Amino acid sequence: MKSWVDIGFEIEITGDQSPSLRLLESIDGATDRGESMHHSGGACAETLMIYGEPIGKVFQKIQKPHFLVVGLGLGYIELVIAREALLAEKDPQDVGLITSYESVPELREFFFHWLEDRKDLLHEEVWNTYDLVLEHVLRGTELSPGKLKFFLRQHFKNVSDIHAALNADVVLPSRYHCILYDAFSSKTSPHLWEEEFLNYILKTGTFANSLLSTYACKGTLKRALKQQGFEVILREGFQGKRNSTLGLKNL
Ligand SMILES: C[S@@+](CC[C@H](N)C(=O)[O-])C[C@H]1O[C@@H](n2cnc3c(N)ncnc32)[C@H](O)[C@@H]1O
Repeated sequence: MKSWVDIGFEIEITGDQSPSLRLLESIDGATDRGESMHHSGGACAETLMIYGEPIGKVFQKIQKPHFLVVGLGLGYIELVIAREALLAEKDPQDVGLITSYESVPELREFFFHWLEDRKDLLHEEVWNTYDLVLEHVLRGTELSPGKLKFFLRQHFKNVSDIHAALNADVVLPSRYHCILYDAFSSKTSPHLWEEEFLNYILKTGTFANSLLSTYACKGTLKRALKQQGFEVILREGFQGKRNSTLGLKNL
């Protein structure tokens, strides 16, 4: 069974003790290690701040919201969607859609097997990493791990429900009320940050009332948001990181 190193990642325990994954190799060879999926100060804390707060707002304002997640990674955002839904006393059917994209096949498979409680199919290190992620996501709540996993299983019934790479020629399966844009940086994933591509995603992939949240603060993104009728709000970045971006359209 494969573990993280076999698929090109290493585990990194971040400042709040929650795990993140780092690419073993950098894309351009300029550094000896690749990009990490999260801020070193706290993977879970960063996710709750950058994505959890907007997700909570969407549950307050929209009936049966549709969520688009760019970059499943370890699944923090999907788990936080379920967390916020359960905290707002919503059922799985109160979430219209969760569409997640992830280019690494094993990240899609591992997450799905873990959701399905298929411990027999996962390397112990991988299983324990997801358990630790969930423990952090649930910290400070009364929610049980089983309830949260059950919630997400209603949305990811097959591994193919987690989409592969988001490519330039993508046709999104729906429009969305909430886009959680958590791609690697433009150095690692350049096309995901191109202005034309972002305009296309926002134009074809959002409802009249929607929001986009991301840890990043890129000019291409801010311009695309404005061109597509979003108000651009620069939020404080996580732990002193430069600003993160929230785009709001009729919300
Ligand atoms: C910053 S990490 C996401 C972290 C994740 N949201 C979490 O909660 O752990 C970026 C993720 O995007 C994935 N990725 C890279 N290129 C992609 C693409 N074109 N389409 C979809 N996912 C991509 C990477 O494999 C990585 O898992």
